[in-house]
Amino acid sequence: MLDPEVGFTSDVITDPNRFVGRKDLIRSCIQALNSPNSLIAIYGKRGVGKSSLLRQVQQMALGDYTLATNAGLHHEIPSKPRQYLTVFYTCDSLIDSGETLVSRLCNDQDDIDGLLRLVPHEGKEIIEFNRAKEASAGADLKVVNWGTKGIETSKYARVIESDIIQTFRNFVSAIVRHQVKNRMNRDGLLILLDEFDVLANKNGLGSLIKSLSSKDIKFGVCGIGQDLADLIEDHASVERLLEQGAIHVKTMPTPEAFGVLNKAEELFEGKIEITEDVKLKIVEASQGYPYFIQMIGKSCVNKASQNSSSRIDSEVFDQVLEDIRSGIAFPTLETTYQRAVGNSENRQILLHLLAEQPEKKTLFYEDVGRIFLKNARRDAEDFNVDYIDQILPRLLDRKFGPILRRIPEGQGVYEFINPVFRLYVNLRKL
Ligand SMILES: Nc1ncnc2c1ncn2[C@@H]1O[C@H](COP(=O)(O)OP(=O)(O)O)[C@@H](O)[C@H]1O
Ligand SMILES: [Mg+2]
Repeated sequence: MLDPEVGFTSDVITDPNRFVGRKDLIRSCIQALNSPNSLIAIYGKRGVGKSSLLRQVQQMALGDYTLATNAGLHHEIPSKPRQYLTVFYTCDSLIDSGETLVSRLCNDQDDIDGLLRLVPHEGKEIIEFNRAKEASAGADLKVVNWGTKGIETSKYARVIESDIIQTFRNFVSAIVRHQVKNRMNRDGLLILLDEFDVLANKNGLGSLIKSLSSKDIKFGVCGIGQDLADLIEDHASVERLLEQGAIHVKTMPTPEAFGVLNKAEELFEGKIEITEDVKLKIVEASQGYPYFIQMIGKSCVNKASQNSSSRIDSEVFDQVLEDIRSGIAFPTLETTYQRAVGNSENRQILLHLLAEQPEKKTLFYEDVGRIFLKNARRDAEDFNVDYIDQILPRLLDRKFGPILRRIPEGQGVYEFINPVFRLYVNLRKL
């Protein structure tokens, strides 16, 4: 059996050689990394590729500009790009204040991404390593031995018991002095915070980040949002820092979506071929969401292997489609589907009506994805779906998803919280 992960993955893409397209976004990232004061903020919908882009920012921050060169941006790379050491932290909803966030950073023991790994102390062994397969430019540091005394940082950076912010500052300045400047001779420390949108209380985080930023310390935040304000509540305080750094990740244009499939073929090194008509079908079903392309791609490879074939043609694709339609291909999405629908056939019909509203009707908005209840209401009459007002609430209920979110800007306007789920419903059998 061929391992589908060779060419397709539903994981975040760290390897620049697997990263497809996004030329304009990469350009913005280069600019933000190389402007001394800029904060980086990456936002967009779920599953569009934000975290993968953030990992590429990390890679370029180390001085590895393979990605930019591959994207045809070689001439836009500064002759001496600013180089950093990096921290990468994924937030969660238990973080309820700036203090908690900073405390998490100070205590994160991740060997290759954590802040604590970089704080120098006696007995701790830190070595250089490369994040990408190619040993090109851009080493980062990792801990291979935390030392016998456990995690004892006090020799180089003083812990202030009741003041975590000051402790953080002490940690960071020890890192900058010993690791960034002396050891690695870099320009600064880059702290990347993924899933910044889930923080329970965003109050004051913008100004906190601003106060902690300096010419030696740059922050990058990333998360789900329609605009900057979704990510950083008090964004006014950081607006000036964001001239270069506000990066909106949108769905992939069609040629890039094809690119993901071509890249997969390349990674399979001839062991898998995808016919052009199937590529087109996958691209159409995915509507610019690379996550869905990767998931369907994986299923296709598995199916081809089962058929002892190296060709993904329309026959293989139709089998995959049938698995999706009947709910066995993607168990996680199917669970979401079942929980949302409950045991109401009418709710199931409504869900499908909402999911299949053509995006065209919504072009009037800045971002696609809006759906209108009145359109579904009209169609629902043909389908004999009564009592929409009774069956809709479950789709908005946290306990059962939620599937939809009300958009405050208009009456009866909604949005699928997970756009990939919407694509799934469109393929799912009613
Ligand atoms: N530039 C890209 N090229 C190829 N695949 C991508 C790219 N960006 C994202 N993906 C794929 O899309 C999926 C979602 O990516 P991710 O970065 O986790 O998105 P987000 O953080 O926005 O939810 C993953 O399966 C990833 O492999
Ligand atoms: Mg993500």
